[in-house]
Amino acid sequence: MGAVSTTFVAGTLLIRKGLAPPTGSLAEMGTVRLGKRNEGRTPLIKDFVPLASLDDLVFGAWDIFEDNGYEAARTAGVIEPSMLEQVRPELEAIKPWPAVFDQRYVKRLMGTNVKTGANKLEIAGQVRADIRAFKEANGLDRLVMIWCGSTEIFMTPTAVHDSIEAFEQALESNADDIPSSMVYAYAALVEGIPYANAAPNLSADIPALDRLAIDNGSPVAGKDLKTGQTLIKTIVAPGLKARLIGVAGWFSTNILGNRDGEVLDDPESFKTKEESKKSVLDYILQPDLYPTLYRNLCHVVRINYYPPRGDNKEGWDNIDLVGWLGYPMQLKVNFLCRDSILAAPIVLDLVLFLDLAKRAGMSGIQEWLSFYFKSPVHAPGLYPEHDLFIQLMKLKNTLRFMRGEELITHLGLEYYD
Ligand SMILES: NC(=O)c1ccc[n+]([C@@H]2O[C@H](COP(=O)([O-])OP(=O)(O)OC[C@H]3O[C@@H](n4cnc5c(N)ncnc54)[C@H](O)[C@@H]3O)[C@@H](O)[C@H]2O)c1
Repeated sequence: MGAVSTTFVAGTLLIRKGLAPPTGSLAEMGTVRLGKRNEGRTPLIKDFVPLASLDDLVFGAWDIFEDNGYEAARTAGVIEPSMLEQVRPELEAIKPWPAVFDQRYVKRLMGTNVKTGANKLEIAGQVRADIRAFKEANGLDRLVMIWCGSTEIFMTPTAVHDSIEAFEQALESNADDIPSSMVYAYAALVEGIPYANAAPNLSADIPALDRLAIDNGSPVAGKDLKTGQTLIKTIVAPGLKARLIGVAGWFSTNILGNRDGEVLDDPESFKTKEESKKSVLDYILQPDLYPTLYRNLCHVVRINYYPPRGDNKEGWDNIDLVGWLGYPMQLKVNFLCRDSILAAPIVLDLVLFLDLAKRAGMSGIQEWLSFYFKSPVHAPGLYPEHDLFIQLMKLKNTLRFMRGEELITHLGLEYYD
């Protein structure tokens, strides 16, 4: 029930009352071209594939704070109080269930609304019970779980994460290798529910949970929503590379004053975020294929916690470019964005598309949803695709594929026969 999730929930409630447009949501506003360019068939995505209607969504959440949805949205301070008033009763009705939480994984937070139990397996059982009770109480057919919790400390996979058996044993023996987000992910996947991770922590991105997702028919997506500075980076970098303009350095710095910024002020949580933010340029620019242009690129990313700005992040990028004959140039980007305003439509799209994927019989990693993430999960042995435009093509082609429509290659020779 933090900034991202309350902005998503309150926003969706406002949109379905007709009080605001779903700006930024591809699922609600995007179109998909079908067939040849001269056929004039470009339906809305939501008319092309059978997405759940916003009217049918019901929201539930866990948090370490007891604040209801309205109080949490006021604390987040993203949506104006006058707008929140218009959906206040619906938000007040969302009372977070006690969280799976251990401060060792998120050092800057402490709360009282926390589950207790003999071990992590039993606590996962409590999460599953919450899920079932929610489904029952609201008469729901299907569910989707999205981790919009804080960024946990940096962790890498260990032997415990290799197989479902080892993972379940580790849950029972309370192994340190299993942070809270993994307990939620496990609970969702055991229940056959789609799971997405909006944060950069490991969570479901381990072989054991990948296997569980496939076995139980749960689609999975992650990690770390691509908003703000990284979104702009994955828009600008493919353009520079397309024209073979060299990049000697890319310095990115931000000021951010929300609770996410406070959590990321802890070096161990920042490390998780830093890894996620830094990987994009390596994959987009491919220094191994273009060593003259990108091999020595100096990429620095900073996040500075600065409370006066709240959720209104300001990012600065200085990009040192190299052109024809080695002449240097510079590009400066100053992005005054609103973090959760950029994130909320992504959460909505993930809910709708993951639910669609589940109904289409898709399970495990959903690479076509890479479009939404800074560190897209991918099959072992494959490199992740970070270029926003390739990601969009992959997403739309997947929708065409689902509906048996011709895939679009953009070859276009047939128009000149
Ligand atoms: N806003 C963006 O643009 C953006 C982009 C990419 C990723 N993210 C990530 O999304 C996550 C949420 O961001 P936010 O701005 O909403 O942060 P936030 O601090 O406002 O919200 C996080 C919420 O998670 C709760 N929480 C922490 N651990 C929990 C647990 N174990 N169980 C239940 N609740 C728990 C916190 O109490 C808090 O209410 C962060 O990890 C952030 O890094 C945000």
